[in-house]
Amino acid sequence: MSLQRLQSYLSTVQAICAAPAGLPGDHLHRIADALRQLLRHDDWLPDAYAQPHPDHYQQYPLYIDPAGRFSVVSFVWGPGQLTPLHDHQTWGVVGVLRGAELSEPFTLRPGLPPAASGPAHTLMPGDVELIANGADVHRVSNALANQVSISIHTYGSNIGQQQRHVFDPQHGAAKPFVSGYALPPLLDSLPA
Ligand SMILES: [Fe+2]
Repeated sequence: MSLQRLQSYLSTVQAICAAPAGLPGDHLHRIADALRQLLRHDDWLPDAYAQPHPDHYQQYPLYIDPAGRFSVVSFVWGPGQLTPLHDHQTWGVVGVLRGAELSEPFTLRPGLPPAASGPAHTLMPGDVELIANGADVHRVSNALANQVSISIHTYGSNIGQQQRHVFDPQHGAAKPFVSGYALPPLLDSLPA
């Protein structure tokens, strides 16, 4: 196991986030390329940050940028576990390390139930998807019925403290949502 792989990824994301502002899409694609490199190996995530909870998915912080520009989190999904419908209020880059993840996009309709806004899609190890618009709504679940899945998420804020929303699947009503974290961050700082 080598934390150097993660540290290298974090240093790359930090450099991208510190660069003079370019097109947001450019930044996201560069982070996505770096994440694909990180996901090529599954030998670096400590077991403590890969443990499922019997009742719900876990969100473990791997690193939180002290300047608040980004955070990197491992999501650990037990069989059958899923998120509520939710938004992010920031950008995101999501990729699968282990197992498989199902992502279902939704659109909100005032007074009506949220509706699917595109096909549900399954991400396999190494697959990466972008959350370019913080207002986008989706539901994410473990695509495997008998196995733990793990995905690595990078967001443009401290996502565990980000004020965002979950949505009632029947009526679309929004509720404030702050996810929190299951453990302290794996890494407090990056090598100089
Ligand atoms: Fe999400």
